[in-house]
Amino acid sequence: MKKLLVLFSLFILQWTGTAQAAGGYAIELTPAENNLRDQQSLQRGAILFSNYCMACHSAKYMRYNRIARNLGWSDEEVVDKMAHGLNKVVDNVEKRMPDGIALKVLGADAPDLSLMGRLRGSDYVYTFLTGYYEDEKGNWNNHVLTGTAMPNVLEGIKRHSSEEDFQQVARDLTNFIEYIGEPSKVDRWDLAPKVIAFLLVLLLLTYLLKKEYWRDIKKH
Ligand code: HEC
Repeated sequence: MKKLLVLFSLFILQWTGTAQAAGGYAIELTPAENNLRDQQSLQRGAILFSNYCMACHSAKYMRYNRIARNLGWSDEEVVDKMAHGLNKVVDNVEKRMPDGIALKVLGADAPDLSLMGRLRGSDYVYTFLTGYYEDEKGNWNNHVLTGTAMPNVLEGIKRHSSEEDFQQVARDLTNFIEYIGEPSKVDRWDLAPKVIAFLLVLLLLTYLLKKEYWRDIKKH
């Protein structure tokens, strides 16, 4: 029993530890408040991603048909909405610019975004996307990634929409980026309580079985 308690507290420590590890940036991150269960937000995020990010960024560990399955689109719809009919559903989500152009023009390669949500966390991605500002010289800079090579690609949307709508755009994009980082996260959340319930029942049964075995042994 003692060992079990130790194991359990280690588990809790580990858990709170990862939550704390998200801190440590120059500015406080704004909570993204995205919701992976909001399929409409994911759909909007996917279309925004295609229109505003895929020139430079790939999400090459995802295939279009997986996105379709998870976001409630048919195979034709996903190709139509995200690839303008130019890709096959079995294709990986590749960027549209050839390799090396971003490096040449912007001074840095645009990283693949498949795992960016897991690497940096959703709050970071959200704060990064909403964190562009004009410095004294009139150049774009970013609060989280100072001197970033990425242009302020959402500038047009920001200029032509309310603050609230712009935040929603950033939230939808962040939602999609978190989704591609772990496409089965929602399934995992749904499965977890069932697994825990099963293990608890199993614990009870094995405990009763142990008592049953030892009853005879102790008598002698
Ligand atoms: C014109 C090309 C271009 C477009 C379009 C673009 N990016 Fe980027 N992005 C870059 C480059 C270049 C970097 C590397 C920045 C750096 O290292 O300073 C980058 C970096 C990033 C990063 C990582 C930041 C970090 O901390 O390392 C994220 C997240 C990101 N982009 C998201 C997006 C999203 C979301 C969109 C669409 C709304 C988008 N990008 C559109 C070029 C682009």
